[in-house]
Amino acid sequence: MSTSKALSLTALLALAVAGAAVAADEKGGLGARPGLGAPIQEADIKPWDITILPDGTNLPPGSGTAAIGAKLFIDKGCNQCHGDGAKGGKNGALISDEKLAGQGIEANKTIKDFWAYSTTLYDYIRRAMPWTTPRTLSNEEVYSIVAYILAGNKLIDENAVMDAKSLPQVKMPNRDNFIVKFPDRI
Ligand code: HEC
Repeated sequence: MSTSKALSLTALLALAVAGAAVAADEKGGLGARPGLGAPIQEADIKPWDITILPDGTNLPPGSGTAAIGAKLFIDKGCNQCHGDGAKGGKNGALISDEKLAGQGIEANKTIKDFWAYSTTLYDYIRRAMPWTTPRTLSNEEVYSIVAYILAGNKLIDENAVMDAKSLPQVKMPNRDNFIVKFPDRI
């Protein structure tokens, strides 16, 4: 057999093998995907799609006040880790009297001095606290606890009602000292 004939035979053989593999793949044979899982549905994603943006986008309906929040802080056991009056205990203080020391990255790493957006407080508490039972607070309860922490840090009035409209308007003291990567998105 000439070299060129041998080559074309090899090529033909290769094509035939490839063709068989494709056919087998379609039938669920050789090289098939494992066939595990199912396409995810919108309804499955929705309960996890809870991110709140700095401008308050995605804040849920409802409202709360510091007075209710103070009670919840004890009822929900936040004080067991964050101390009486949220002044710090086993875990960090959420309310502090410290003066803003430094700016931007140099500031005290407290909520009052370091967090850029009040809405982050809502997002964080709703998704992560209480530490041992996250996502057990109702939307209303989160508004009240947020109001309690903001009022304790003297960032809002004691009687201010926090809701989807008022919360994004609370300006955190250190906000303008952060470099915003995508200013047009907020
Ligand atoms: C079992 C202990 C525990 C309980 C109870 C608890 N926390 Fe926390 N909390 C933590 C820990 C630990 C952290 C730090 C988590 C980290 O840095 O990843 C934290 C962090 C936080 C922060 C962020 C503080 C910061 O400066 O970064 C907030 C706000 C907060 N908790 C609020 C609450 C609220 C409100 C409750 C009650 C509904 C609560 N926590 C209950 C342990 C607890």
